[in-house]
Amino acid sequence: MEWGMANRMHRMFQPGSGNAVMVAVDHGYFMGPTRRLENVRATIAPLIPYADVLGVTRGVLRHAIDPAATTPILLRVSGGVTVLKEDLSHEEIITSMEDAARLGVCAVALSVFVGAPHEHESLHHLSQLIDAGEACGIPVMSITAVGKELEKRDARYLALACRVSAELGARMVKTYYCDNFEKVVEGCPVPIVCAGGPKLDSDRAALELAYGAIQAGAHGLDMGRNIWQSDHPVAMLKGLRAIVHEKATVKEALDVLEAEKKAGSAAPKRAAAP
Ligand code: R5P
Repeated sequence: MEWGMANRMHRMFQPGSGNAVMVAVDHGYFMGPTRRLENVRATIAPLIPYADVLGVTRGVLRHAIDPAATTPILLRVSGGVTVLKEDLSHEEIITSMEDAARLGVCAVALSVFVGAPHEHESLHHLSQLIDAGEACGIPVMSITAVGKELEKRDARYLALACRVSAELGARMVKTYYCDNFEKVVEGCPVPIVCAGGPKLDSDRAALELAYGAIQAGAHGLDMGRNIWQSDHPVAMLKGLRAIVHEKATVKEALDVLEAEKKAGSAAPKRAAAP
């Protein structure tokens, strides 16, 4: 691996655990101002010190993140459809590798839609993006399935989608947790990080998901709604960090979360968007 590529991977996956806690805040690219992301800058600000990586679009990067921040950025570069459309798979590359390099990001991310109407185009876009990323030392993350594709959330489907992504050259893959998740990890030769999906019923459920993913061999999380839609996002993030980096059990992570809640971290009050 070239120095630049290796350096970017090491900046995301932490020394010690070899894992990463990525905070995904890119949902607006197809969901609009979803709950607790109405004022994205206010949502992100308290999380920055505890995120190993922030996943955003270039619009949110420019609007909500101080250029003095040193947190590695994972830039979403696919999009072009919204939740108003039936077929979410009709994405294009919406941000060039040249702009990603200009923005100084650590990695770029693109969704693939295996089994969906635009499967071929999305895999072709992944390959094109990897060619461009390899040329300038920027790793590409393949995101397997979003939105309606999640109805296919089983190990056989996700293992196929993750393996295809790795075979095409993705340096890392983001996917969703499922039963027998170890089968998904086992079949994927590059690091897998696990998304959270829609907000679960409780903080405990999100910690259990994270614990299951790490136990199965995931190299971390790329989680959004179960962090910033929690009533205690910083506490939640600290609990997740304990699981990902310190091998904490769910009980230990809950103790971290409860201690932080007592210390007073809560979701930011909504403020008018600047
Ligand atoms: C889709 O909007 C993005 O790929 C998200 O970054 C991904 O789904 C992770 O966020 P969440 O944990 O909310 O599913």
